[in-house]
Amino acid sequence: MTWDELRTKCESCSACPLGKTKTKNVFGTGNEKATLLFVGEAPGKDEDLSGIPFVGKAGQLLDRYLEAVGIDRDEVYIANILKCRPPNNRDPEPSEEDACITHLREQIRLLKPKIIVCLGRIAAMRLIREDYRITSEHGQWVEKGSFLMTAVYHPSALLRDSSKREAMLGDMMAIAAKYRKIQKESEQC
Ligand code: URA
Repeated sequence: MTWDELRTKCESCSACPLGKTKTKNVFGTGNEKATLLFVGEAPGKDEDLSGIPFVGKAGQLLDRYLEAVGIDRDEVYIANILKCRPPNNRDPEPSEEDACITHLREQIRLLKPKIIVCLGRIAAMRLIREDYRITSEHGQWVEKGSFLMTAVYHPSALLRDSSKREAMLGDMMAIAAKYRKIQKESEQC
């Protein structure tokens, strides 16, 4: 499947009821050759209206962290576990995640990232480990198949609790360092 075919398939998806209540499908955005993939939870109100992930307040905060560690948003890929907004921003239902995860799997197959960063506990519990504890495990690296994975606090959590911001900056600095190292190594090959 190509990116265009996947995007078309995702936009007309009816595998769960959220396809009926969404405004726009939020497929994902960024460099389709990126080695660094960020995965959030699900679109919020601003994303539902624009069709682009992480453009609201949480997304703007994510942009500030990316900028602070010298990563251009356009050089990475950003997607979510769910492509359609759950009403009132409630947590995704497991059945919705099960229905939607095939789209993310296809995105990962096409992208072949080296690093996957889970933004928040929902993505970490889905992609790293069901019992992942974001408070105690954020920033730790896990090797899964051909990927290096880690999780950081969700930017929305940082908006609610600014005491987590220092930890976020540390994690993002470590991610940027790992990303640059991997980029350098692949340039030398
Ligand atoms: N929160 C998410 O998890 N994803 C978005 O795209 C926006 C907010």
